[in-house]
Amino acid sequence: MKFITTAIDYPNGKPHIGHAYEKIIADVLTRYERLKGEEAYYLTGVDQHGQKMVKTAEVEGVNVATLTKRNTKRFIKLWEKLDVKYDGWAETTDDRHKTCVQNILTELEAKGSLYKKSYDGFYSVRQEQYLTDRDRNEAGEFGPEWGDVEEREEENWYFKLSEHAEWLKSTVEKDDLKIIPEFRKNEVLNAIERAGETDLCISRPKERMSWGIPLPFDPDFVTYVWFDALINYISFAGYKKPESSDLPDFDTLWPADLQIIGKDILVPAHAIYWPCMLHAMGFEAAKMPTLLVHGFWNIRGDKMSKSLGNIVDPDELADKFGPDTVRYYLCRDIHSGKDSDFDIERLVMIFNTELANDLGNLLNRSINLLKGACASTVASTDTSEEEDIALRESLAKSTAAYRAAMENCEISVALQAINDHVTHCNGYLERSQPWTMKKDESLLPRVGEILSHTAESCAHLAVLLSPILPAAAAKIYGQLSKPGFAELNLDDLKWGLLEAGHLTGKPKPVFPRIQVEKPE
Ligand code: MSP
Repeated sequence: MKFITTAIDYPNGKPHIGHAYEKIIADVLTRYERLKGEEAYYLTGVDQHGQKMVKTAEVEGVNVATLTKRNTKRFIKLWEKLDVKYDGWAETTDDRHKTCVQNILTELEAKGSLYKKSYDGFYSVRQEQYLTDRDRNEAGEFGPEWGDVEEREEENWYFKLSEHAEWLKSTVEKDDLKIIPEFRKNEVLNAIERAGETDLCISRPKERMSWGIPLPFDPDFVTYVWFDALINYISFAGYKKPESSDLPDFDTLWPADLQIIGKDILVPAHAIYWPCMLHAMGFEAAKMPTLLVHGFWNIRGDKMSKSLGNIVDPDELADKFGPDTVRYYLCRDIHSGKDSDFDIERLVMIFNTELANDLGNLLNRSINLLKGACASTVASTDTSEEEDIALRESLAKSTAAYRAAMENCEISVALQAINDHVTHCNGYLERSQPWTMKKDESLLPRVGEILSHTAESCAHLAVLLSPILPAAAAKIYGQLSKPGFAELNLDDLKWGLLEAGHLTGKPKPVFPRIQVEKPE
């Protein structure tokens, strides 16, 4: 069973395209596993506790529990709209999660992994953590990235993180905690050096912040939001669940094959705290998850932020352009762990060229011309023309490149492989001109062969595209009049999906061009 998870989002506002991107790529990679015939489980959800939620509730003048419930619904609705299909939904206010967190805390305390002490230091409210001198900038100050920084003296509970630093270093070096892409590994190794120096504060005094899970052994404190949130990956996977629970079977799922996160939460949360927490609970190196770290969507080089007012709303985009367009653009325009700039004009341009013009026309021409010239009847594609052989080779090459890219979680590279074959097919049609040939009746058998090559290609491309564009892929397959699309497996993709004599369906544009509104 493949177990794929994402970060859980703070529902302290509306979901933005960064949130949407992560949920979509997890959905795509889960669908891809199923396309290979693998069983897969996709867990995602929301991170509902912590100071961020309390602050937003104060600003909006609502009760924090009400805000949490209301905003959580917005996330669920958006995932539905974007065709993001998950198997498990994690909400950290869920009693099953709270019990799991408290049981873990009780065990860690009994083992001696936790201790209480008083600490005086500088605290970043935005990042919800104490800062050290290492966090100061060249001018010796805490930069704006930390938000408001205040001096605080407090008693709190600490997790003995430093005890695990040596173990973590070798675990990362040996790739037992695997980090994709590879270039992020160094960042983690550098951060481990620092982890050996400090322990992790895992509580907040209730009198200051009560919106969290109470420590079972010291009720004046609640659990630090990150300690609580990271545990979602195992609590909702059924870790030490009661017998009556409807949660999944933990041993079938764990360790996670992919924990998909953004680059901002790799260090320290996912690459330092999380593996050390797991290790303290008794998980060995072989039971560490794999982290897939993606880059950020920016706006003209700037971070998206409420204060800049540049947040892109995926809900509006989906209403305007349809969910498949949003899915395609977000998967297409960001490359292996790097950042990308969101640009709506580019979204329209990419849709109109790659989907409406290139793939859409290929499908439309194939089915339309087959209808007009060959009574919608597929001809044999067992031919020996050089052009035909080259087309079949192009498809085989694209399919192999697509598979290799998807195995590396490089969805944009997989899309490039698909588009390479689309370009090949369109060139093949331009060179052979079946629309002119059909005027000469003696050439009709050849016209049928040519169009059957491109229609067959469309059938394959629909299957390859189905994890990314589930709705459009089903439409393409429907127009080719092939039942059984949903049951198809990648290994079924052999030449000859459309057998000679098969009747194709009614042509109807799957990707109608987006009309750009001209300024008056
Ligand atoms: N709640 C924590 C994660 C806890 S996981 C145990 C959190 N939440 S978040 O809402 O701030 O971010 C959720 C995910 O969205 C993170 O993986 C984060 O990196 C990602 N993104 C947030 N902004 C993003 C972009 N602008 N672009 C791409 N992804 C971004 O962190």
